[in-house]
Amino acid sequence: MAIKLRSAALAVGAVVVAGALGYTALVEYGLHKSYPQSIKVADTASADQIKRGEYVARLSDCTACHTQEGGKPFAGGYTLHTPFGDILSSNITSDKETGIGGWDQEQFDRAVRHGVGSHGYLYAAMPYNAYAKLTDQDLADLWAYIRTIAPVKNKVVENQLPFPFNQRWTLAGWNLMFFHDQVFQPQELSTAEINRGAYLVDGPGHCASCHTPKNLLGGDSSAYLQGGALQGWNAPDLTSNPHTGLGKWSNEDVVSYLRSGTNRETASSGPMTEAIENSTQYMTDADLHAIASYLKSLPASTTPVPAAVASTSEPMMVGKKVFESQCSACHVSDGSGIRQMIPTLAGNSQVNAPDPASLLNVVLNGSEGPLTHANPTAAGMPAFDWKLSDSNVADVMTYIRNSWGNAATAVSEQDVAKARAATHAKPWAGHAEESQP
Ligand code: HEC
Ligand code: HEC
Ligand code: HEC
Repeated sequence: MAIKLRSAALAVGAVVVAGALGYTALVEYGLHKSYPQSIKVADTASADQIKRGEYVARLSDCTACHTQEGGKPFAGGYTLHTPFGDILSSNITSDKETGIGGWDQEQFDRAVRHGVGSHGYLYAAMPYNAYAKLTDQDLADLWAYIRTIAPVKNKVVENQLPFPFNQRWTLAGWNLMFFHDQVFQPQELSTAEINRGAYLVDGPGHCASCHTPKNLLGGDSSAYLQGGALQGWNAPDLTSNPHTGLGKWSNEDVVSYLRSGTNRETASSGPMTEAIENSTQYMTDADLHAIASYLKSLPASTTPVPAAVASTSEPMMVGKKVFESQCSACHVSDGSGIRQMIPTLAGNSQVNAPDPASLLNVVLNGSEGPLTHANPTAAGMPAFDWKLSDSNVADVMTYIRNSWGNAATAVSEQDVAKARAATHAKPWAGHAEESQP
């Protein structure tokens, strides 16, 4: 524990020093660099350009974070919970007082591609780290669209972090260490399709913000797209690993998943369902195929496959009983599920993931299933929080993670208790009965 604390303190110290250096760099950038006329949007943009910009906004999923539940689109106020505290998204409608109505394209570009907003450096919760890759044309089109959004008055206090994380100037240090401020560079040896896929994944799609694991300071680790932990969810490995990644998925499986939220193996839930509903379902066929080709071209991660827990062990035997009585009506006793509707649990990469967070979340809290144009009647998964004890949930998890060819670490009662608390699941109803005098 002491060692962990010390290294965290060192890291914060480094950020502060680097922050001071970066701050000087920024001030000079602001004074000397003038905005290139060549990418400036005309005072009245063509309908075509505005339409292209709307598509870039879809690809980038700007609405996901800039719209509060039940609020007006782009009016901000949506809370992002980070390990460092809460950050609220800005109002980016054209309201002059509380939005960005007074901004010009240069200010917009500086926020979206370079991470400097109206209060100074932006927190990386706003994925400028990915948007930095946007081409000049896409950025200009995006601006042509965003500035047409009707004004909505909604004052947002973005920064609700505790000291020292509330000090924006320290972010210059974060940028020096983790921010690659560079437009997308196509790889000469790749095909045009794979380059387009890489652009969509790394740029507008900002897939790495969830699928790449983070280091202590919230920067991307080097395990690119090999699976990241979110609050209460696991965003799985997107490399070609056959056990925990997309190794067994065809390009068509990837396309179907991103377009409809389902494919022959699985159905999306949680934050990925939101990304599919708001963003990827609107992608053109060509763009979805480009993403699939790019992901399938990534070398497989080398995550080791653990030995499966023995089927004769107690948790496996109890887990099997729970599965047969509670789950097999839908998921079928051999784990095969129902195509395009009920996920197959056998050979399922998410079920084999080292981190069971998504599985626990779905089993405890249930899941609505993705609602998309291509999948208008999603099947839902019922919540078991009230119905099963921590020990029963742990055993059924261990069972599905180690049956039908699956192999993954056992899940403990403590893991379930923690997930219950972290995801605000209901207590087990049997518990209340038991504790009655
Ligand atoms: C993953 C969530 C997320 C996504 C996606 C996202 N933003 Fe943001 N954005 C934020 C947050 C959070 C802030 C506030 C950050 C801060 O105050 O440091 C922000 C700030 C901004 C700002 C700065 C406003 C100001 O007054 O300084 C602009 C402009 C902006 N976003 C535009 C966009 C656009 C355009 C898109 C799509 C291309 C987008 N954002 C997508 C989370 C997001
Ligand atoms: C806001 C976080 C977030 C973003 C952004 C995001 N994902 Fe995901 N993704 C997840 C989570 C969480 C899951 C697991 C969902 C589940 O368990 O049903 C997931 C699942 C997936 C899966 C299914 C993997 C499997 O083995 O079941 C694919 C494919 C995928 N995402 C691709 C993408 C692509 C491509 C992008 C960028 C265009 C992207 N994701 C952006 C969070 C995210
Ligand atoms: C009424 C039918 C039904 C029952 C009963 C049911 N499930 Fe599900 N399950 C589903 C559906 C539908 C989904 C997909 C939900 C989504 O897309 O969000 C799902 C999703 C899942 C997932 C996520 C799979 C993935 O690829 O991310 C897991 C794990 C799971 N169920 C396990 C269980 C367990 C364990 C039980 C018993 C305790 C159970 N289910 C009972 C219908 C059911």
